[in-house]
Amino acid sequence: MYKKIAAIGLGLVLAVGSVFAGGGRQSGGTSGGTTASAGKGLVGVLMPTRSEERWIKDGDAVKAGLEQLGYTVELQYADDDIPTQVRQLEDLITKGAKALVIASIDGSSLSNGLAEAAAAKIPVISYDRLLMRSPNVDYYVSFDNYKVGQQMGDILIKGMNLDSPAKKPLIIELFAGSPDDNNSVGFYDGAMDKLKPYFDNGTLLIGSGQQGRDVVGTLRWDAAEAMKRMENLLSAYYTSQTLDGILSPYDPISLSCLEACKAVGYGTADKPLPVVGGQDCIIASCKSILAGEQYATVLKDTRSLGAATVILVDTILNGETPTGLDTSSYHNGSKIVPSLLLDSVIVTKENLISAVVDTGYHTAAELGL
Ligand code: BGC
Repeated sequence: MYKKIAAIGLGLVLAVGSVFAGGGRQSGGTSGGTTASAGKGLVGVLMPTRSEERWIKDGDAVKAGLEQLGYTVELQYADDDIPTQVRQLEDLITKGAKALVIASIDGSSLSNGLAEAAAAKIPVISYDRLLMRSPNVDYYVSFDNYKVGQQMGDILIKGMNLDSPAKKPLIIELFAGSPDDNNSVGFYDGAMDKLKPYFDNGTLLIGSGQQGRDVVGTLRWDAAEAMKRMENLLSAYYTSQTLDGILSPYDPISLSCLEACKAVGYGTADKPLPVVGGQDCIIASCKSILAGEQYATVLKDTRSLGAATVILVDTILNGETPTGLDTSSYHNGSKIVPSLLLDSVIVTKENLISAVVDTGYHTAAELGL
């Protein structure tokens, strides 16, 4: 396990152009090669919810990696409840955590705790979701969220064959992520920038006319809420037109939309399911992709994100300054947060086995193969 993380970490460092190569020694590589020694102190890891598959994988990857390096890890999930996460943060500060890794529920809700952490000189790493409106955020580790959005757009361009469409216009509906999650901005803007030429030239039309992140957003990424919205859209706008595609930022939302469509007769040769992408490569979506229902998803490998985070924490706690980070892309409303941004991968039926099963992200058994 340790060797695997070290290898992933080293690979990552090379891939992102010697991100940790400054500050006196090859921190990324050497950290990966450090012999694990017990008692390196407590690291607090806060994750938003256990009810979504990805955060469990994230939490497990970060915890295992840090423990392998000799840290004690307290991993806490907050059931998507903001006051719970605020309490957990304060609790970890009181317990004397040496570093904090935080995937927030609402990116703007932890400012008081972050100020306390800064006063206690505890470095804070914003994990996957950017902590907003606070100067007390030291680093951000995530995927390139705008590129993820572009991939969501590319999925629809390919899946709906927008460059030589079977008819014009093709009808689409838009869903966005949680308005309190800064990632939703990159996802939506990246996708819409890709789709704009097709709206402009009349290839694509929004059946309901509903657009804008505030209008089509899904609070807390709640798939049940998205399902309700899809049902309402279908009954209000699709009695005499057919839905051809859906922009979805998250696999459970994709699956809910597909369910709602099936319930009103989509999924036959005459009335195929709309083309739907997604994000997170969850097991249920992989099965749906293999069954020819969900068209694609975006895989953000939580093992790589976890490994990058572990190396970053270890580098900082060894008293070194990580270098080579992106210092222009992520302004949190208070400051630019130095960021390490990883790459994501589009997964369709064609590459699912090689990208997901062969890499061990999900096993064949998990996918029922
Ligand atoms: C993450 C996505 C995830 C979503 C819902 C976002 O912040 O970047 O990967 O699908 O939250 O949990």
